[in-house]
Amino acid sequence: MATNRTFTMIKPGAVRNGHLGAILADITAGGFKIVAMKYTKLSAEKAGEFYAVHKERPFYGELVEFMSSGPIVAAILEKDNAVADFRTLIGATNPADAAEGTIRKKYATSIGENAVHGSDSDENAAIEGSFHFAGTDIFA
Ligand code: PPS
Repeated sequence: MATNRTFTMIKPGAVRNGHLGAILADITAGGFKIVAMKYTKLSAEKAGEFYAVHKERPFYGELVEFMSSGPIVAAILEKDNAVADFRTLIGATNPADAAEGTIRKKYATSIGENAVHGSDSDENAAIEGSFHFAGTDIFA
C-alpha cells in the first residue's frame, strides 16, 4: 500500500448510536478519498487477531469483546499525509482529551468505545488494510 493511505474502522458503538453517516461525512469533508470500504462484523477471534499487539494490556479482553459486539465499517482512505492527518481529524484516543470538533470528541463515549480506529504508522496502515481487504477490493 502506498504511504498516502491509512486504515480506519468505525467501531460498533458509533454504528449502534447512529453516527455512521455523520462520521463518513466528516471523513470525506476532511479531504479523504475512500478507496475501499465494507460493512462487516468481526468475530471475537478476528478482533483478537487485529488487536494482538495489545494482548498483554489489562483492557485486551474488553476491547476484543467490544470490537466483536456488532457491525463495523472498515475502510482504506487516501490523502497526502494520510496517517497523521487522519489522527488529527479523529482526535486523541481518550475522548476526554480530544480537541473540539474531532470525531472522537463528537461521537466517542469512552477510551474503549472511542468511535473510530486510525492506523498509527504507514507500516501498520498497510498491515491493517491487508487484514480486511484484498488488492482487488481497492479502487484508487
Ligand atoms: S494508541 O493511540 O494506540 O496509543 O492508544 P492506546 O492507548 O495504546 O490504545 C490502543 C487501543 O486500545 C483501546 N483502549 C481501550 N479499550 C478498552 N478499555 C480501555 N481502558 C482502553 N484503553 C485503550 C483504544 O480504544 C485503542 O483502540 P484503537 O482502535 O487503536 O483506537
